[in-house]
Amino acid sequence: MSESGSNIVWHEASVTRERREKQNGHKSAVIWFTGLSSAGKSTLAHAVEEELHKLGCRTFVLDGDNIRHGLSSNLGFGDADRRENIRRIAETAKLMMEAGIITMAAFISPFRDDREAARKLMPHGDFIEIYCRASLEICEKRDVKGLYKRARAGEIKNYTAIDSPYEIPENPELIVDTGEVSLQQSVAQVMQLLTERGIVKQAT
Ligand code: ADX
Repeated sequence: MSESGSNIVWHEASVTRERREKQNGHKSAVIWFTGLSSAGKSTLAHAVEEELHKLGCRTFVLDGDNIRHGLSSNLGFGDADRRENIRRIAETAKLMMEAGIITMAAFISPFRDDREAARKLMPHGDFIEIYCRASLEICEKRDVKGLYKRARAGEIKNYTAIDSPYEIPENPELIVDTGEVSLQQSVAQVMQLLTERGIVKQAT
């Protein structure tokens, strides 16, 4: 328990998650996109958000690069800082899910234990892990931000898949081959899963 935890009493809200979901006309959930840098996590998350928004759903994307400008601006890329980053995001995503929002988190989240800890924070079935699978070769070729090049040159330390590990998800709810299939196909795969899970009533 945290330092102050024993002296703090949980206050139950009368406007519950269930009531919010009913008002919204859809369930909330945390959709967690993991994968290498430049694998297309943010692109896919935002494209899925577009689809959901068109269906009238309440949504939000928590995005690695943006969160590191604010909530996690005091964190670097060592193992402990990445762990703390994911812990903060998971707690934030949980709050947003409680608020009735379909929350998408797009983070490398390289460590299995950290993703599992995030999963365990949520009620069973509410955490949907999507592995954006693209080979290092493809990601490095894309090198959207030019950071792989800098990592190879030794200018950036602890770069994921260069000199810092990425642990492949063992049991994700979905694998999307973002290195191979089109964005449109990737979005369709995610939308189908969300429909099957009863989070949204119908995909487009
Ligand atoms: S995580 O490992 O803590 O989940 P996060 O998704 O927040 O990473 O941030 C990854 C983004 O930060 C990358 O897309 C990349 O643009 C940038 N970045 C800067 N330094 C590194 C690094 N050492 N390793 C990975 N990404 C880095």
